[in-house]
Amino acid sequence: MKVTVVGAGAVGASCAEYIAIKDFASEVVLLDIKEDYAEGKAMDLMQTASLNGFDTKITGSTNDYSKTAGSDIAVITSGIPRKPGMTREELIGINAGIVKEVSSNIIKHSPDVTIIVVSNPMDTMTYLVHKSTNLPKNRIIGMGGALDSARFKYRLAEALEAPISDVDGMVIGGHSDKGMVPLTRLATRNSVLASEFLEEDRLNQVADDTKVGGATLTKMLGTSAWYAPGAAVSGLVQAIACDQQKMFPCSALLEGEYGLNDLCIGVPVVLGKNGIEKIVEIELNDAEKNKLKESAEGVKKTNGLLDI
Ligand code: LAC
Repeated sequence: MKVTVVGAGAVGASCAEYIAIKDFASEVVLLDIKEDYAEGKAMDLMQTASLNGFDTKITGSTNDYSKTAGSDIAVITSGIPRKPGMTREELIGINAGIVKEVSSNIIKHSPDVTIIVVSNPMDTMTYLVHKSTNLPKNRIIGMGGALDSARFKYRLAEALEAPISDVDGMVIGGHSDKGMVPLTRLATRNSVLASEFLEEDRLNQVADDTKVGGATLTKMLGTSAWYAPGAAVSGLVQAIACDQQKMFPCSALLEGEYGLNDLCIGVPVVLGKNGIEKIVEIELNDAEKNKLKESAEGVKKTNGLLDI
């Protein structure tokens, strides 16, 4: 199992690290445009192998896509991250050109690859990969919902004063401050609805804190977060690599599901060896349907800025 991670910045490197630590891939290739940068990160990570106990071989490459040949999965993290006060949507101009070029280079050397898009604005970048390549739709996946759901669980655990392993919850919709739809109605603590323990106001606060999860960290760190994004990507990569048939909310191309068409947006999907094995349609109430519809309108507006 060979995995390529394009972009050896903080998100790409943390993604490579989590993949390696889980030790399911034979090889991870880190690629970056900055001379020797990916090679350096790969060497540093390889020097943790004996300490962390993994056998995954991590190599680095300065923009030489021939080194990525035969990749089963490629993760695209390249592009610029947001700075404090910026929205993910503001990155579109620069990142669209980068994502288009990277995906075409990847596919040239790995025609059967499954692509996971992380670059922002993520739902629009995922849509761009669909529009600009010939990969089947099950092989193009946007990472956002898995990260947003992890942040939702963090906030839920905080509000419930419970350990994180006790809570469950999912965020669907666009990966944007306004577009996320945390499904508070379905959140649970040990299979008991969170609403049994928390007042509506508190649950709404959890949802609001979740939606600005990335922005909060960007303000604190001066740049976009990396540990949770990297960990979320590694979960998706593992589900595909190990054919786990696990369910995650991911940005998928919709063709009628949830009453939506011709966009990529976060919905529950099952991931396995074929990438998206299935889009899962769950019953939403009217308020949730409206929020998802509004979120889809936001994503479509951003998609409208693409030069395709
Ligand atoms: C975040 C970036 C990865 O939410 O979109 O942290």
